[in-house]
Amino acid sequence: MAQATFHFPRGFLWGAATAAHQVEGNNQNNDWWAWEQDPSHILQGHKSGLACDWWGGRWREDFDRAADGNQNAQRISVEWSRIQPAPDRWDETALDFYIEMLRGLRERNLTPLVTLHHFSNPIWFAEMGGWENEEAHLIFEKYVRKTVDALRDYVNYWVTINEPNVYAFEAYLFGLFPPGKKEPLTTMRVLTNLARAHAAAYHAIHALQPAARVGVAHHYRDFKPAKAWFPLDRGVTGINSKVFNDIFPRALATGIVATPFSRSKIPQAKGSQDYFGLNYYTRDRVAFSLLHPGELFSHRYYQPGAQLSATGFLANEPEGMYDAIRWALQFKLPILVTENGVEDPEDQLRPIYLAQHLHQTWRAVNFNFPIKGYFHWTLVDNFEWERGWTQRFGLWELDPATQKRRKRPSADFYAEICRENGLSSEMVQKYAPSLSEELFPD
Ligand code: FCB
Repeated sequence: MAQATFHFPRGFLWGAATAAHQVEGNNQNNDWWAWEQDPSHILQGHKSGLACDWWGGRWREDFDRAADGNQNAQRISVEWSRIQPAPDRWDETALDFYIEMLRGLRERNLTPLVTLHHFSNPIWFAEMGGWENEEAHLIFEKYVRKTVDALRDYVNYWVTINEPNVYAFEAYLFGLFPPGKKEPLTTMRVLTNLARAHAAAYHAIHALQPAARVGVAHHYRDFKPAKAWFPLDRGVTGINSKVFNDIFPRALATGIVATPFSRSKIPQAKGSQDYFGLNYYTRDRVAFSLLHPGELFSHRYYQPGAQLSATGFLANEPEGMYDAIRWALQFKLPILVTENGVEDPEDQLRPIYLAQHLHQTWRAVNFNFPIKGYFHWTLVDNFEWERGWTQRFGLWELDPATQKRRKRPSADFYAEICRENGLSSEMVQKYAPSLSEELFPD
């Protein structure tokens, strides 16, 4: 094995990513809490409950963990339903709470990246039709103005909306997130309304804070044809990628939302990103299939033999990380990897996944692709939406009943990477020895 270090550029942001509903606990005023009350909605009838008890103050100890782990950044989100508990009411104490949290990040030298919408909506907003409401962008903009005005002294990087494509598909096509619909046309309408909302938020933020850096966290799923030589497989792969990956970011680049059913102009969306937030987890094989008309005549599956995460939710496909970055280059923006990680309670796969995905990120850096940071999903095990607590993505293990945290080896691995601003052969030898020859051949 060769002795070497894959260095990252000076000033690279190293963080972990979290979302309010997944970590705060007791978010009783949003549509997710309501959704969890029906046990059939969440695996094993799990509930978010206290989550990681950040609202009870445990953000302090977890930010200590992030800082002790040599991170220099941290991605959090703020909960709309706390800040605006009713359409005509703001909760200043909630804003003060977030100010305290943001000060807590600054005191620990952690650069904050703040998401304004991460899957959860106030119940009152959901009752007004949520993202199907044609006025949703105006309602969202009001919340964004209030929040950014209160928090701007502490935040330069804003994520307006987390994974608009995942949100629209899970909530309106697959029926797995509230409101649990399965309506393709509605899904595309919601995607369009989210693009409008992002654009409104982008301009509102810049009006309040001209120097802010504003983007979206886009989820890119890598699709590869089952048989590269078979035109029908290639065809459906391209369609999947266009519909899932391309519609939203292209809308923000061009000001045109082009879905399979519609084409709408949103001129104010054109050029409305200052950086490109990229969430990458896995890759699918796609085969043409007459048996799956509802899924665009495609059958998606993980490559047989691929290493799977503990519940089979993800396949370890590190080269997809590189492809994701290559894909994101078309938008000609600086790139932040805003999420990447794997569910793994035993921490067997995580060190391997982490090393390989960072190696692929470094390959991209090496071509001078403008990658400015990496945020691992996630710091401490949290409530994973419709999968409840069955999936453990944390560098730290959490027992939600006792709130006890326990460090996984990957936390030490990541801490060494953050300290070194690089991935060394020594670290790989220590934490993921099976990769030594692959990553550092003689
Ligand atoms: C992403 C979500 C995040 C988390 C990870 C595992 O799609 O943005 O909240 O659930 O998946």
